Amino acid sequence: MNHPSPPPAPTPALVPAPRHAVPAAPTRTPVLDPHTTIEEPCGTTAVANWLRGTLGAALGLPLSPHTPGSPARTRVRLTLAPDLAGELGGPEGYRIGTTPHSVILTAAAEPGLFHAAQTLRQLLGPEAFRRAPVTARRHWPVPAVTLEDGPRFRWRGLMLDVARHFMPKDGVLRYVDLMAAHKLNVLHLHLTDDQGWRIEIRRHPRLTEVGSWRTRTKFGHRASPLWEDKPHGGFYTRDDIREIVAYAAARHIAVVPEIDIPGHSQAAIAAYPELGSTDVVDTSSLTVWDDWGISPNVLAPTDTVLRFYEEVFEEVLELFPPDAVPYSGFSRFVHIGGDECPKDQWRRSPAAQARIRERGLDGEDGLQAWFVRHFDDWLAARGRRLIGWDEILEGGLAPGAAVSSWRGYEGGVAAARAGHDVVMCPEQQVYLDHRQDPGPDEPVPIGFVRTLEDVYRFAPVPPELTPDQARHVLGAQANVWTEVMEDQGRVDYQAFPRLAAFAEALWSPLPPPAERDFADFDARMTTHYARLDALGVAYRPPQGPHPWQRRPGVEGRPR
Ligand code: ACM
Repeated sequence: MNHPSPPPAPTPALVPAPRHAVPAAPTRTPVLDPHTTIEEPCGTTAVANWLRGTLGAALGLPLSPHTPGSPARTRVRLTLAPDLAGELGGPEGYRIGTTPHSVILTAAAEPGLFHAAQTLRQLLGPEAFRRAPVTARRHWPVPAVTLEDGPRFRWRGLMLDVARHFMPKDGVLRYVDLMAAHKLNVLHLHLTDDQGWRIEIRRHPRLTEVGSWRTRTKFGHRASPLWEDKPHGGFYTRDDIREIVAYAAARHIAVVPEIDIPGHSQAAIAAYPELGSTDVVDTSSLTVWDDWGISPNVLAPTDTVLRFYEEVFEEVLELFPPDAVPYSGFSRFVHIGGDECPKDQWRRSPAAQARIRERGLDGEDGLQAWFVRHFDDWLAARGRRLIGWDEILEGGLAPGAAVSSWRGYEGGVAAARAGHDVVMCPEQQVYLDHRQDPGPDEPVPIGFVRTLEDVYRFAPVPPELTPDQARHVLGAQANVWTEVMEDQGRVDYQAFPRLAAFAEALWSPLPPPAERDFADFDARMTTHYARLDALGVAYRPPQGPHPWQRRPGVEGRPR
């Protein structure tokens, strides 16, 4: 009798979706078991170790290195093939294939092989996202598949605001792993703001002694009458930073540090009053800000301040080496903020006005441009690239400088047209602090309603750019500002599940926004929620917040 072969099993719900995946005949289903080994040729040891430490721990399998004569029935074969770079679409591209007794992961370079390992983890099911096995099961079939994948955009970022509410080091390392699980590759750390300074600077110890904590905190957004009447603070030591950078680099994630100047600087001025406009305000009585908004207390445009911040940046450059993540080149970037600098103190300050006259600057806006340009030149002279919020475009920039376009797409469009690289992060689309549902149960609702579907339909490249200009759009990042996120659970709630949609919008070859198949993504999310559960992510459930995720009576600022 002629037996028809069974239909191929559907490809497991991968997030972000791969470029191309077809189920293979079930006869090509390899099974990982306690004898399974990893073939790990030169250059693949780090990925093999990651597989052992993560997948091996979750499944309860040793996944030992393969040796001649090993009794392994099934092997995980890691293959680096630099000559395939063109075919696989660069260093992040990869291929996965299966035979009855092997899973073959192939990439041109280590970043691609690491993405392949992440996909293999998704293929093995939600249990693979735990840290230890929960059953006695010892046989783990890998769905038979032929898969080819690679990213659409090079810069796939997440910005964490660790200044407004500090995220302890362990939380940052956890986010690095969550990013890696979603194939994101740039972590932008917003390290300084009016409400806190979070990085140890040896030369200026008061930045953290004084600047890293406040005595109380506004609970809710600006209009809220509530206060959290206890100290809040914390900072990363130099070794903490080195550890974060190394941990991220091992996952091919570049960490871009942000030191926000000349605005958003009250914590620094509270630590060193001479950094402020002492000729118009008594900065000696300033404290680290306990409220939200934009502080009028900004850096004075003096030589003292320039030298002070050069010393700060010297230590920052040392802690964030330019070659930490070589394949992307993004470790060269240093973010200098540059956003929302109120000019009132400069208007009233004789010292600031004297500087405007002496340099022939175009008023206070020209003064801000001069300030940014100083650090643009300073960083460029040290082989680094400046990146800043789109306000920095206002004064003209050095050719290598790049722009984070946050006030919509406009700044990014102008920057790309002027030949600058751009990271799109328009607040109307990808500010994940903004509420994700119009309902009354959203905790401390602020900003626009941006649902999972809205984020899924985010397109980093606006249609008005020509193909040549569009090449300057490196990619995009989701920004998580933490004024109303007092702990990791609140950050999880705002970031997830939307970060998964964001990751797919950046990684996968999706059609234009209106044509995207959100229903398909949403169906895959059913499996993905189980992965997030296994990882312990406190995401917003599709049907709305759990009772303990609500913040009844705490005022936000819906728009
Ligand atoms: C910003 O949201 N102020 C960059």
